[in-house]
Amino acid sequence: MTAAAGNWSPLASLPGMDDSEFERWATLLERRTGVVVPLKRKAFLVTSVRGRMRETGHADFAAYFRDLQKVPEGTIEWTTLVDRLTVHETHFFRHPPSLDLIARQWLPQMTADPARSALHAWSVGCSSGEEAYTLAMVLDMHLAGRSGKTYFGVTATDVSLPALAVGRAGLYPRQKLAEIAQEYRSRYCEELDADTFRIREALRKRVGFAQFNLLDAVSASMKRLDLIFCQNVLIYFARERRRELLATLANLLKPGGLLVLGPGEVTQFAHARLARVDNRNVLAYRRTS
Ligand SMILES: C[S@@+](CC[C@H](N)C(=O)[O-])C[C@H]1O[C@@H](n2cnc3c(N)ncnc32)[C@H](O)[C@@H]1O
Repeated sequence: MTAAAGNWSPLASLPGMDDSEFERWATLLERRTGVVVPLKRKAFLVTSVRGRMRETGHADFAAYFRDLQKVPEGTIEWTTLVDRLTVHETHFFRHPPSLDLIARQWLPQMTADPARSALHAWSVGCSSGEEAYTLAMVLDMHLAGRSGKTYFGVTATDVSLPALAVGRAGLYPRQKLAEIAQEYRSRYCEELDADTFRIREALRKRVGFAQFNLLDAVSASMKRLDLIFCQNVLIYFARERRRELLATLANLLKPGGLLVLGPGEVTQFAHARLARVDNRNVLAYRRTS
C-alpha cells in the first residue's frame, strides 16, 4: 500500500499524505535542519504536520507547504513546526561513561595548566536543557575540588524554541530527580513543590541558551571551545552530512579540547587534528594541535 494510512482513518478530518508529498516535506526538513525522516517514519511526520495544520486552520498539505515558504509569516510558523518535527527525548546524566571521561580524565589534564583560567563547553542539540545542566554540574563539582580558580560556562543550543524555553526556566518534573545522583541533587537542585524541582540559580547562571541551527555552524564565525558535547543529534542526519559537520566541530575546538559524541553515532571518521580517545565505552576525540 503506497497511499498514507491516514487516507481512510476515521480520526483524521484532514487528508492523507501520498509518498511524493511526503518526499517534499521530508526534503524540506532535511534541507533546513539536516534531520532525515525515512519513509518508515512517515506516520510521525504526517501526525506532526497534521497537528499543526489543525491549529493553524490549514485544510491541505500543499497550501500549508506554500504558506511555509512565505516571508516572514512562513519563517515564524517554521519555528513552531520544527519543534513538532524533531525528537526531543533527553535525560540528565544520559551517558555516564562520557561524563566520567570528562570528570576523571579530561578535566584533570586541562586544569593541570595553571595558565588556564576558563573552560567553555557547548551542548550542541541541548533539547530542554538536561544535557547542558548535567555538563554544568559535572564541571562545577569537579572544578570546585581543584586548587586554583577556573571559570566555566556552557552554551546550550537547539533549533527548538519551546525546548529552549524549558531549559532556560530550569524547571523539571520531580520524577526526573531520579536521574541525578544524590551528591549532585543536593548541591544543584531545589525542590519547589510535590511535582517540580528547579536547577539552582547559581548553576543556571553558568548556562546560556540560544537558538542555533547546527547546519549554520559550517558558515558561522564562532568562538573556539574547550568541550563540544554532541550526543543524539547527528544520528538523525545523513552520513555524509555527519562527516561534514564533524569536521566543522573539530575546527571549532581549541587544542586539547574534547569532542564527545554518542557511542556509534559515526563510523570511520578521521580528522588530521583529532585523536580518538582510547575508551571503548565512549566516542570522543581530542584535538591535538
Ligand atoms: C534527541 S534530542 C537529544 C538531546 C540531548 N543532546 C541528549 O542527548 O539528551 C535531539 C535534539 O537535537 C535538536 N536538533 C535537531 N536538528 C538540529 C539542528 N539542525 N540544529 C540544532 N539542533 C537540532 C532537536 O531539536 C532535539 O532537541
